Amino acid sequence: MFSQRSGNRSTITQPAELIKEKLLFAKKFAAAPRTVGSVTPSSPQLISSMFRNVDWQKTGVIAELGAGTGVMTKEILKLKAPGSLFFAFEIEKELREMLKRDLKIDVYDDAAKLPRALEAAHGRKADLIISGLPFAVLPRDTTLAVMRAVLRSLSDNGTFIAFQYSFHMKSAFERMFEEVSTRLVVMNIPPAVVYECRGVNRQRGAVPCGKEQ
Ligand SMILES: C[S@@+](CC[C@H](N)C(=O)[O-])C[C@H]1O[C@@H](n2cnc3c(N)ncnc32)[C@H](O)[C@@H]1O
Repeated sequence: MFSQRSGNRSTITQPAELIKEKLLFAKKFAAAPRTVGSVTPSSPQLISSMFRNVDWQKTGVIAELGAGTGVMTKEILKLKAPGSLFFAFEIEKELREMLKRDLKIDVYDDAAKLPRALEAAHGRKADLIISGLPFAVLPRDTTLAVMRAVLRSLSDNGTFIAFQYSFHMKSAFERMFEEVSTRLVVMNIPPAVVYECRGVNRQRGAVPCGKEQ
């Protein structure tokens, strides 16, 4: 499970495939709205805003939490430097199987298992953690477990980039990280906020507080 697979992959999504992906995503949202968090995958504008400041050549270990139907995963696979390590996480089984099959990559289940995946693979920390997890609606314990995993796994110079559909995580992220910047992406359903966070706040031992109202 911890091998880095590669294979022939097409990152060009055809219209019919796109519709199929959107329908599958909507179906998964209807079945588990508090896990999936939105009705449709992220827009190209949101994806490009998430990756705006990433220097892929200096990014050796990458993790993506909550890959969904893989709209961001495909972009990461296209942009990442050859030889870099990539760990994708998706809790929903059908989506996970689809990602494994279509993208020919290993996909782990619960994002809270990130430290274990990194340790078993190479014992390295992540330079970049991308999150699509809907913290606003996830159970508090899940948010706590995932954010603890993120804080443990991010390297000292690493970056955590997450999107949410509101500013509700801003103060929690500001406690956990030294530097937090935000930007709004209106061209997305629903409009989203990108959080770019650097410098894990180890001194204050900032333990994530979970859901913020
Ligand atoms: C808002 S969707 C984002 C999907 C995709 N990244 C995108 O941008 O379109 C959130 C995804 O996180 C997944 N998820 C929720 N909790 C998770 C967890 N604990 N571990 C891994 N994935 C999780 C959901 O199943 C869903 O596919």
